[in-house]
Amino acid sequence: MASIAEKLTDITGAAFAALDLPVELGQVRVSDRPDLAQFQCNGAMAASKMAKKNPREIAQAVVEALQSHKEFSKIEIAGPGFINLNITDDYLASHLAQSAGDERLGVEKIAKQETIVLDYGGPNIAKPMHVGHLRSSIIGDSLRRICDFAGYSAIGDVHMGDWGRPMGMILSVLEARGTLGEPVTMDQLEEIYPAAAKACKEDEAQMEKAREATVKLQDGDETYKAAWKQFIDVSVKGMKKNFDALGVHFDLWKGEADVHELIAPMVNKLKTNGFAVESEGALVISVEQEGDKKEMPPLILLKSDGGVMYGTTDLATIVERMEENNPVKIIYVVDQRQSLHFEQVFRAAYKGGIVPENIELTHAGFGTMNGPDGKPFKTRAGGVMRLEDLISMGIEKAQARLAEADLARDMDKGERADIAQKVAIAAIKFADLQNNRIADYVFDIDRMTSFEGKTGPYLLYQAVRIKSLLRKAEGQGFKPGKEFLLRDSDRSLALLLTELPNVFEGALKNYTPHLLCEYAYRLAQEFSSFYAACHILSEEDEALRSSRLALCELTQSQIVLVLGLLGIKIPERM
Ligand code: ARG
Repeated sequence: MASIAEKLTDITGAAFAALDLPVELGQVRVSDRPDLAQFQCNGAMAASKMAKKNPREIAQAVVEALQSHKEFSKIEIAGPGFINLNITDDYLASHLAQSAGDERLGVEKIAKQETIVLDYGGPNIAKPMHVGHLRSSIIGDSLRRICDFAGYSAIGDVHMGDWGRPMGMILSVLEARGTLGEPVTMDQLEEIYPAAAKACKEDEAQMEKAREATVKLQDGDETYKAAWKQFIDVSVKGMKKNFDALGVHFDLWKGEADVHELIAPMVNKLKTNGFAVESEGALVISVEQEGDKKEMPPLILLKSDGGVMYGTTDLATIVERMEENNPVKIIYVVDQRQSLHFEQVFRAAYKGGIVPENIELTHAGFGTMNGPDGKPFKTRAGGVMRLEDLISMGIEKAQARLAEADLARDMDKGERADIAQKVAIAAIKFADLQNNRIADYVFDIDRMTSFEGKTGPYLLYQAVRIKSLLRKAEGQGFKPGKEFLLRDSDRSLALLLTELPNVFEGALKNYTPHLLCEYAYRLAQEFSSFYAACHILSEEDEALRSSRLALCELTQSQIVLVLGLLGIKIPERM
């Protein structure tokens, strides 16, 4: 169904068209000045440039054309020619009833199951996952849910780093220790990798061995391949456990190694077609374009020793995805600092004919999660924070917060643990997602676990409160109605509830879940004001009571939907 802004845009657009002006000028949106009006249309200003007329004169003509429309309760011209609009309570109520009755709450499906591949997570085998991988996982998983809800068939791929030099380092160290072939555990692996990296850094001979081992592994050496396979399996098991705890889902557990076989044919084709050329012993694709403002180095496909690069596996992964998934878009949720890399890969993919121009390749980059010192977040000991430690830290804090707020007290141990887990995950995810993804943010465990302010726990608390109110109503035999009866005190919540489709559209368009976070927060706040100002269960007038219960129910459904799109689960009670 159309959103209210779209319906009003249709009406206003027709008024512009009747004056021989482009219909697009009739764009109506929620007012920037809610103190002056509910909606606004700024088209008269643009029209005045085209028609070379005074904008207020044009606005006046539009306003006259709108007079016959009974949807509006107030039509006014402000400033140089803004058209300010209010709608009638009846119109608002009937629109709201329509969206409340819609299983998608009025959010239109824009896609027809076209495939989108989302590349997020990107942990590296044997290395602990760092906060960059955490951000990628949280944002990527939310974008996957958003794309799915929009009607796409969204595929999340973890794209592990499982094929580079670090693999050779581990293998060469296992060999030096004489334990190559014996199964290793995750704990051993976590000791081996840093030791291997250190040994290689300090000892050129060891580094040479690591290099050789990498090449041999990639060439298919049986012994290396078997050892590698074993430690990949343990790592993946560990990762799955962590991602499960975080509530982050992947459809595909692929990695760089999976495309190894595709590299040679891809490189040959690029050579034959003249795109790949020798340069200083390496094989490269030039990706410069006319009008480039910054230096754009070529993408290196093969180093002079024949080794493949990060960009080579990324390009081959595009070949694989085009063949296997045939997507309309591939979205990479990766640290913003890798933007040059993706620019090079995307240009090479289009130029080399790997991806047709009409397929979208997007790098949805994100900023750094910093510690209180403003530098990339580290543990107190100065190391990287492991994901499982971060989750346990969140849970511990959540337990303390629940105790402080006297919540979840009379519940059994199991339920309390479940609630603490949900509060912790909501805190971590919301703190991350609420920032515009490009921005850096400061990780502050105390602030993000608070039940007050713009936090995940605050939203969970509000959602649970509405749920319990609805339960109580049911217990008293009161049902939410199908119709809305709006009073002064109900109107602003009702108006806000109509904004969901536009907010969703914005979040989808720019891959920006923070818009949904903002909306959820506004909704919770607006609900609080409504709750403070209105009688609900104690309202004597039955029609008004059922309308208010319907507002509660719609608010609840929207919060559940929005938090669900963010990957946040709500407990039954708290
Ligand atoms: N493993 C990489 C890293 O840790 C991230 C992978 C991102 N995805 C990709 N297709 N390059 O930086």
